[in-house]
Amino acid sequence: MGVSKENKLQPILREPFTAEEEQLFRALDPRTLPRHVAIIMDGNGRWAKSRGFAERIFGHRAGIDSVREVTRTAAALRLSALTLYAFSKENWVRPRAEVEALMALLDRFLVDEIPELMENNVKLVASGELDDLPESTRRRLADTAERTANNSGLVLNLALSYGARSEIVRAVRRAIEMAKAGEINGEELTPETFAQLLDHPELGDPDLLIRTSGEMRLSNFLLWQAAYTEFVIVQKLWPDFRRPDFFRALLEFQSRDRRFGGVR
Ligand code: IPE
Ligand code: IPE
Ligand code: MG
Repeated sequence: MGVSKENKLQPILREPFTAEEEQLFRALDPRTLPRHVAIIMDGNGRWAKSRGFAERIFGHRAGIDSVREVTRTAAALRLSALTLYAFSKENWVRPRAEVEALMALLDRFLVDEIPELMENNVKLVASGELDDLPESTRRRLADTAERTANNSGLVLNLALSYGARSEIVRAVRRAIEMAKAGEINGEELTPETFAQLLDHPELGDPDLLIRTSGEMRLSNFLLWQAAYTEFVIVQKLWPDFRRPDFFRALLEFQSRDRRFGGVR
């Protein structure tokens, strides 16, 4: 048992576990890990404020280290997908300087993380209203997606200018177009066929959704896909969320009784 776990965690083990991480990791059951984890990475602004920074962007910058650590861990655990809510459709109303700084951080992330993504066999994709993004960001996104397209491990899905209601409406529009073209009729539209019209249906619904910073709301994230997702709300702010916190969230997930409307 111990040996197979160590083999599976090769990429992580290059950085040795702390005693706490070792203990948390040993408590995880490798057979019942979630396939798809989604995270609402919240609390960057509060983190910056709590550290005495005047600009919220310091929190966003610090949050990149959490993104890297969680992605690496998810890849090493052989999860199939990790969807990160990085920027919502509603976030465009924030002060222009913050939005510009976030786009600049995203641009840098998309370039700087390529070696890390390759090393961890991670394929990058994105969901959301990608046409809203600045041209330079769209270009970098397309380039990183293309470079990592043949990686066969974790799929890292960045939700960018993402809003679940817009995603659903786009899918409805597509269904109408298909109906007009005679490719589908009303009876063929079921929850299963409709789900195929959403962004990245191949990832499947998230099994676990984590939100940091204690807020208990979805904020327009994955409204359709989260129908039977387990929610874990963490008090820590996103830049403080690291590997042990991720392990704890996975353990919490494994303690849940998922009934999907049935009975035991
Ligand atoms: C999450 O942190 C990051 C984004 C929404 C882009 P926030 O910026 O929402 O931080 P808080 O919630 O104000 O602390
Ligand atoms: C949700 O966080 C969006 C992201 C984490 C990208 P917000 O901070 O925007 O959500 P609200 O405004 O608190 O609901
Ligand atoms: Mg927030």
